[in-house]
Amino acid sequence: MESENVKSGADLRLKETIRIIMGRRSVRKFEPRQVEPEKTRIILECGFAAPSAKNIRPCHLVLIDDPALLKKIGESTTEARMVTGAPLAIAVCVDAARYERESSADGTWIEDASCAMMNMLLAARTLGLEGVWLQILNRPARDVAISPLLSLPEGVKILAISVLGYPDAEKPPYSGVDEERLHTNGW
Ligand SMILES: Cc1cc2nc3c(=O)[nH]c(=O)nc-3n(C[C@H](O)[C@H](O)[C@H](O)COP(=O)(O)O)c2cc1C
Repeated sequence: MESENVKSGADLRLKETIRIIMGRRSVRKFEPRQVEPEKTRIILECGFAAPSAKNIRPCHLVLIDDPALLKKIGESTTEARMVTGAPLAIAVCVDAARYERESSADGTWIEDASCAMMNMLLAARTLGLEGVWLQILNRPARDVAISPLLSLPEGVKILAISVLGYPDAEKPPYSGVDEERLHTNGW
């Protein structure tokens, strides 16, 4: 890690990772342009690089780049319509039944899978892409519509699908802390 001689907050804001985190926004419309395989590969690597409790690494990623399948998912339920028109989607899945049965089961697979989701969304932005988190877990109508399309084995659950592509518009970045929700040394 490089040692820092910090001058001001403004300098720190220019750091690439900080800019990516603050600039990431949900995008639901995409340019009609394919994602290069090299970029897809790196996004997948970032998903698998996510931390997990006890290093159990329970996540499986389902890469969806078949236009016909993307269209089917997009048409399966209203909430998934942004998948139609997206060139890429990655479902973050966990064999939840097996996880509860076999692992030291401290119930953190949702957090583990969420880390993979965020890693991929941030990696996507870093590579000039953008996307959105499509929630599937605890959304029964979507689960029932989408899970069968991915031929998931029994017991495997989708946490969410990262819907990705080249954004058709830029949204403003975030800045500042939410003073009403910031509590120092206790609530
Ligand atoms: C756990 C979680 C679930 C989400 N589920 C959906 C979803 O199902 N569909 C959707 O369009 N956006 C979904 N989003 C994206 C949020 O709507 C979005 O992050 C929020 O409106 C803030 O916008 P921003 O991402 O541009 O900052 C989800 C985000 C999170 C963190």
